[in-house]
Amino acid sequence: MKVLAVLYKGLEAARQEPRLLGTVENQLGISSWLKSLGHEFIVTDDKEGPNSVFQKNLKDAEVVITTPFHPGYLTRDLIEQAKNLKLCVTAGVGSDHIDLDAAVDHKIQVLEVTGSNVTSVAEHAVMSILALVRNFVPAHEMIERGDWNVSEVARNAFDLENKVVGTLGAGRIGYRILQRLKPFGCKELLYYDYNPLPAEANKDLGARRVEDLKEFVSQLDVLTVNAPLHPGTKGLINRDLLQHFKTGAWIVNTARGAICDKDAIAEALKTGKINGYSGDVWNVQPAPKDHIWRTMKNPLGGGNGMVPHYSGTTLDAQKRYADGTRQILQNHFEGKPQDPANVIVGTGKYETKSYGQR
Ligand SMILES: NC(=O)c1ccc[n+]([C@@H]2O[C@H](COP(=O)([O-])OP(=O)(O)OC[C@H]3O[C@@H](n4cnc5c(N)ncnc54)[C@H](O)[C@@H]3O)[C@@H](O)[C@H]2O)c1
Repeated sequence: MKVLAVLYKGLEAARQEPRLLGTVENQLGISSWLKSLGHEFIVTDDKEGPNSVFQKNLKDAEVVITTPFHPGYLTRDLIEQAKNLKLCVTAGVGSDHIDLDAAVDHKIQVLEVTGSNVTSVAEHAVMSILALVRNFVPAHEMIERGDWNVSEVARNAFDLENKVVGTLGAGRIGYRILQRLKPFGCKELLYYDYNPLPAEANKDLGARRVEDLKEFVSQLDVLTVNAPLHPGTKGLINRDLLQHFKTGAWIVNTARGAICDKDAIAEALKTGKINGYSGDVWNVQPAPKDHIWRTMKNPLGGGNGMVPHYSGTTLDAQKRYADGTRQILQNHFEGKPQDPANVIVGTGKYETKSYGQR
């Protein structure tokens, strides 16, 4: 069987650190196992254009492994050329780089390693919220520059205590963020999601659900975005919605870059409508060198907490999604049932309730 994987190049770091499993060099730790079973395993980072290793090998691959970190974009057109394709595995969480409707139409299954990095992302989101609210990045940069001017950074530093924080999407990650914020004594924890939190999960949390999006954002000091990217969330945070935010609110988006309108965010930050924007996900990855989110700032020269897409790819997370990928493949080879939580698209239909109300 031909198995094709698109991973990112780890270069020197991956040679020095074998736990960087999600790299071309370390091949999710499954290369010898796959070969011992007699399968052909092609691993590449070369993914763009018809002559790329990815697109050339896709034509007769039966299984494709991709990650959200260096996404091998599986468009409808490419899916239609992939005549043998039966299974797409996302080594991680978030399969928006695959045309899921096309996978449904062509009876190609799409599986994720659900839950593999949700704590990793939740921790990053909590860190980013604190870093923005407390104005950490400009304070650190001042120190590196050799300067010392307390009021210059304190003028835009606040406590998280008594702030209203809300998550757009209260699934595995959104819920874990709220759980971790509970001890900070926020004024209120809110959420917006068409799937309500189970009563048991919300018992200790006491998060309040707001059903209207504009009403939701208008109450927030901090918004954290934790919904998958699908037609119902693409560009959801745009110029129109930003007008309904409190002036000076902070936004942390570790879900998907394209949920936010790139230019509307940069403009809102520049004018001070929002005080900060942070996250690790971009509308194109790798982000071009001149992507405005790399350098955008608020009127005081801070408010930017952007990093490359790595919150869900800590070494702990890499071990979990590598092991999970192997388990999914093993089930596939042996004709065993898959863990239902991992199935985004089953044979010919959506199995998840997370990618819009279909
Ligand atoms: N930055 C990273 O490294 C990283 C890692 C893992 C996941 N993610 C992203 O985070 C997303 C969420 O992950 P999860 O494990 O919490 O998924 P999940 O499926 O457990 O939860 C997603 C929640 O979003 C809700 N939702 C969907 N559409 C919505 C909408 N229009 N409005 C409000 N809520 C909506 C769903 O109902 C669900 O409750 C992933 O799909 C992925 O895009 C990023």
